[in-house]
Amino acid sequence: MNFSRDTFLNHLAQTTASPLMLAVERAEGIYLFTPDGRRYTDLISGIGVSNIGHRHPHVLKAIREQLDRHLHVMVYGEFIQSPSNLLAEKLVSLLPPSLNCCYFTNSGTEANEGALKVAKRYTGRRAIISFKHSYHGSTHGSLSVTGNEVRKSAFRPLLPGVTFIEFNNPVDLDHINTKTACVIMETIQGDAGVRIPDTRYLQMLRKRCNDTGALLILDEIQCGMGRTGTLFAFEKFGIKPDILTVAKAFGGGLPLGAFIADREVMECLSHDPMLGHITTFGGNPVSCAAALATLEVIQDEKLLDHVEEKGKLFEQYLRHPRIKAIRRAGLMMAVDFETAEEVQRMVKAALDRGIITFWFLSHPNSFRISPPLTITEQEIREACAGIVEVIEGIRK
Ligand SMILES: Cc1ncc(COP(=O)(O)O)c(C=O)c1O
Repeated sequence: MNFSRDTFLNHLAQTTASPLMLAVERAEGIYLFTPDGRRYTDLISGIGVSNIGHRHPHVLKAIREQLDRHLHVMVYGEFIQSPSNLLAEKLVSLLPPSLNCCYFTNSGTEANEGALKVAKRYTGRRAIISFKHSYHGSTHGSLSVTGNEVRKSAFRPLLPGVTFIEFNNPVDLDHINTKTACVIMETIQGDAGVRIPDTRYLQMLRKRCNDTGALLILDEIQCGMGRTGTLFAFEKFGIKPDILTVAKAFGGGLPLGAFIADREVMECLSHDPMLGHITTFGGNPVSCAAALATLEVIQDEKLLDHVEEKGKLFEQYLRHPRIKAIRRAGLMMAVDFETAEEVQRMVKAALDRGIITFWFLSHPNSFRISPPLTITEQEIREACAGIVEVIEGIRK
């Protein structure tokens, strides 16, 4: 094994000037372990991935069984492979009837790329509406619809024709018109610091899309897969998207994403031009086997039944005068401090104490808590007590 900091810093591309550099030897449940045997409580699930905990035995078993059958055999969309068939069947059984056709990708940003392309191709329109402070991924298309100028300006030109509207503001819905191909929205904004829209607003948005013929893409890459207490966050609001995108926790720890729509919509990718969206590894059989097992765990262990009560426990135990607010949907939480400096100090001090929290891309005054849904009451109590002690100890 090689946990050299020099190798990490010199031979792996860096994305920040100060990476956390925690050396991880293994992971189990809600814990990560370092080579020197220290245990860390993972309160962020590898940023929204390990919703059923690390290395769930049912997922490991499914991966092992698939390893013994085959790995990659053909690019996406040509051969019939059992893992993607089984996963598609399961996934559509859990979705409204109009979301009946899955395109599997490798990641979240690719799922959004595919969704944007299919919306343009299906409607024949070009204009896209997105939201201020949103995050949809780092490739050019997804970055174009990401509402954070700081992350974009160095990479222009990006996609033309994208308009950013205010999240949860009905007045701005007028920007959606008959030239709009699609509206792309995180059902609950993640990296903006957990922003939850009003039900009424989402219903108005849905109606506006219906009236204008714009497709509604809901990005549930962070808020999906049980994170908020329902399998998909849109279920809470009495609406459904035309295209749903998922990734992160979807693959149960392996890379996998999907965009899902009605077959009639998706069909346009197969002609004019043929091969309208292609990928070599999308729907990798091992990833699909892991994803199916993950959905089975969520169902069999009835994980969704306890998400809300566990979220409430965090609110109950995380009390400190420096905590200004907690925004929460199920086990997706943003904890607000007065200043970004306090957040920086808190995240680092918590790590020193063996508790992993993290910041948000577009909301520096908050830190994130989104633990595996499998976290127990006792673990929540211990983690919160640790955080409160850490907060007590940091300078203002
Ligand atoms: C809401 C949302 N959309 C898209 C993405 C991009 O996913 P990926 O990093 O798998 O490309 C993310 C990642 O953080 C996300 O939170």
